[in-house]
Amino acid sequence: MKSIRVRAPASSANLGAGFDCFGLALEDPYDIVEVSITRGNGMHLKISVEGYPVPLEPERNTGGYVALSMMRDFGLEDGIEIKIWKNIPPGSGLGSSAATASAVAYAIDKLYDLKLSQDKLIRYASLGEIVSAGTPHLDNVAPAILGGFTIIAGTPPKIYSFKPDDRLGVVVILPYASKASTYEARKILPTMISLSSAYRNVGYGSLTVLGLILGRIDLLRDGMRDEVVERIRASHGFAQLYDEVRRLAEELEVGIALSGAGPAYIAITYHERVESTAESFRKIFEEKGIGCRIYITKVGRGVYEVT
Ligand code: HSE
Repeated sequence: MKSIRVRAPASSANLGAGFDCFGLALEDPYDIVEVSITRGNGMHLKISVEGYPVPLEPERNTGGYVALSMMRDFGLEDGIEIKIWKNIPPGSGLGSSAATASAVAYAIDKLYDLKLSQDKLIRYASLGEIVSAGTPHLDNVAPAILGGFTIIAGTPPKIYSFKPDDRLGVVVILPYASKASTYEARKILPTMISLSSAYRNVGYGSLTVLGLILGRIDLLRDGMRDEVVERIRASHGFAQLYDEVRRLAEELEVGIALSGAGPAYIAITYHERVESTAESFRKIFEEKGIGCRIYITKVGRGVYEVT
């Protein structure tokens, strides 16, 4: 039995104005996924999971869906087994579905020596997002594969990746709040936006990119904002204590955004301020009786093989 074990990072999409466009890989949390070829059994796919539960039927599992697509496209006629150690909480806005999908695309490419380009791998991984979001958006799978900070732009979309400044640390605040699916969180969004929202978001997005590259928290503080998606999601209950969180970020002078479709928030500050930032956010949630899980982390690598 030939197998490969890989580690795939959580990721935070949007970062404010960069809806479906910006994505950041995180060092922690991450999934471990082992993919094995079980020859002689004919074509079949078996999935097992430890950790957070996710669907095991291949068509409903983000990794399973990717595997089925690759098996079909490349005529892979073996049995394939996928074991997932799911450490990234699903439905948290931390790219849990993208991590598994990216891990499976990467592992199958290596196992069968397909030598797919990174662009192709990202496209295959994005098929997994159809299962959770209803659309193959690229802003979580791109950082999950490439690591660092990624930008999706153009039609057809092209993927650009950058290494943010090393001085930046990340705090993820994940309130214990129930959340509908990413699909639900997208259904409520407008299809048209005003010109004034568009130009303000271009300004915010530009500051965010510069802040990440130059390691300037003042730019991230002013840039990690959004005029279009976050407030609508907050008003539909996809974000908790939205105004309080924004006010605190202003006070602490850190960048803050709803992570993907929420309910997690991502705060970016200098490494030496991550602990105090985490405590301040924990406090405002606890004062309202909302528990939260905090990850103190940093910008992460893309998916890679582990032993
Ligand atoms: N850009 C996507 C969204 C990310 O906000 O719906 C989902 O994780």
